[in-house]
Amino acid sequence: MVVLRTRDEIEKMKRPNQVVANILNELVGLCRPGVSTFELEEKSRELVEKYKVKSAFYQYRGYPDFLCASLNEEVVHGIPSKQKVLREGDIISLDFGVIDNGFYGDAALTAPVGKISDALKKLLAVGSEALRRAIEQCRPGNHLSDIARAVQTWAEDNGFSVVRDFVGHGIGRNLHEDPQVPNFGIPKPNVRLREGMVLALEPMLNMGTWRVKILDDGWTVVTEDGQPSAHFEHTVAVTGNGPLVLSRAN
Ligand code: MF3
Ligand code: CO
Repeated sequence: MVVLRTRDEIEKMKRPNQVVANILNELVGLCRPGVSTFELEEKSRELVEKYKVKSAFYQYRGYPDFLCASLNEEVVHGIPSKQKVLREGDIISLDFGVIDNGFYGDAALTAPVGKISDALKKLLAVGSEALRRAIEQCRPGNHLSDIARAVQTWAEDNGFSVVRDFVGHGIGRNLHEDPQVPNFGIPKPNVRLREGMVLALEPMLNMGTWRVKILDDGWTVVTEDGQPSAHFEHTVAVTGNGPLVLSRAN
C-alpha cells in the first residue's frame, strides 16, 4: 500500500532530509587518503547527536552502525571499519539516514578520494546524472517505469550497468515503505506516481557486470566481478509543481 503524504507531512520531512544532507556534506569533506571508514562513522555519530536526531540505520534489521561506507567494488551497506583506510584514487559511497519527529530522511552519494582515474570520474558523473534524470520523472501521472527507464537507458548508453538486486523505496514514517523503486526494466507493480508520494531514488551503477553478491559479514554488497560501483540517492516528493528534492543541501 502506497501512502500519500499531506503537504504538512512533506513539510515535516524536510528537517530529517536536510540533516542528512548536512551530515553527508561534512563527511565528504573528511574523505581524504589515510582516513578510515571507522573515523567517518565516529564523526557521523557525533553529528547525529549535535542535530538531536536518531540514526535510521543503526540496528535496522541488525545493521551495526550509523553509516554505510562502501569502497570501490563495494556497492552498498559497507560496514565501517578501522581496517578500511581510504587511499588516493578510491571512490567511497556514503549512505546515511536519520529520523526526526517521526519522519525519515535518506540519501547517499559517491565521492572521489584525491585524484581518481578518468574512468572513475565518468562513473561518478554518469551515476549522479542518472539520479538527476530519475528525479526529473517524479511527476504526477508518470509511472515507476519512467524512473527505471530514465536510469537504465542513460547508464547503459554510457557503458555502465544497473544493479538489480537492490532498489529504491517509498519513505516516510518508515525507512522502507511501498513502492519498491527499481532502476531497470518494467517495475511490477508499475505504480502510477501521484502527488504526495515520497520516494527514495537510489540508482547503483557498476562499471562491469550488474551482478552483485553479499559478503560473509551478511551486509556488505560487492560487485561479482570486483569492478567499481557508484551509488547516488535522494529523497524526493512528487508534487503538483514537479519533483521536490527534500535531501538536497541548501
Ligand atoms: N539507503 C539504504 C536503503 O535505503 C540504506 C539502508 S542501510 C540499513 O536501503 F542499514 F539500514 F539497512
Ligand atoms: Co534508501
